[in-house]
Amino acid sequence: MTDRFAIFGNPVSHSKSPEIYQNFAAQFGMALSYERIEAPIGGFQEAFLAFRDAGGKGGNITMPFKLDAYAAATRRMPRAELAGAVNCYKFEGNEIIVENFDGLGLLNDIQLNMGTKLAGKRVLFLGAGGAVRGALQPFLEAKPAALTIANRTISKGEELRARLSAHGDVEAIGYDDLKGRQFDAIINATSLSLTGACPEIPAQAFAPGALAYEMVYGKGLTPFLKHAIASGAGPYADGVGMLVEQGVEAFQWWNGVRPNSAPVIKLLTVPLA
Ligand code: ATR
Repeated sequence: MTDRFAIFGNPVSHSKSPEIYQNFAAQFGMALSYERIEAPIGGFQEAFLAFRDAGGKGGNITMPFKLDAYAAATRRMPRAELAGAVNCYKFEGNEIIVENFDGLGLLNDIQLNMGTKLAGKRVLFLGAGGAVRGALQPFLEAKPAALTIANRTISKGEELRARLSAHGDVEAIGYDDLKGRQFDAIINATSLSLTGACPEIPAQAFAPGALAYEMVYGKGLTPFLKHAIASGAGPYADGVGMLVEQGVEAFQWWNGVRPNSAPVIKLLTVPLA
């Protein structure tokens, strides 16, 4: 029987997951069904369990259900536990097991695809929402010289710092504190690119040749990337590689084999220039 997978979200029609996982499955000659399920707001649990009872094997979780899936789990993998949020799941016997590969996907895109090793580098995240929460632990494991979060609401960054304290040092600051500071890699994890705006980051914060990463994908050169390039940054990228690389991890977690990300990144890339 063909294994059934599904992504839950609302809205979910924009999701690229079916394309990504169908392509990965084809690399191994596997047959796989992958659906988009738009659960009603407030109706996640019911839709999720109905999919399990219909024989679903696993899949992904996107907004706004990343916390609902965390609550619905019977077992949380350490990364999901630490992030307090979920981006993929699998059903095994009576267990609902949840994981979060967002951070590892981002790290692999930067280190493997862009070829920028973060060991010894000064790394800055802009924003302190769910996207950053999932990323911090894998980034600490990459042994940067410093890992800093700048956020409009400084207390949210401080909460993350406290949450990660057993894993390493994270610095939490406000945008004003960026004056006079420099970083080797700057990742925009705010939601500002969705509204066509740019975080208030001074040009001098980009060290010459700093890596600039936009977590949003498919929007071409966002205001953040334009600002980064004008400030002397480069290399730069949007989040398409992160999306595909978290998918590589998820596919391996479900099926025990590791697909090649390159052809799928190529397929989904919207030119940046
Ligand atoms: P996600 O879970 O996708 O990361 P989120 O939790 O809504 O989304 O977080 C959005 C991030 O964008 C937050 O860091 C938010 O800053 P606050 O924590 O201060 O709200 C940031 N953000 C949104 N609008 C912003 C703005 N106008 N200026 C600066 N930061 C903004």
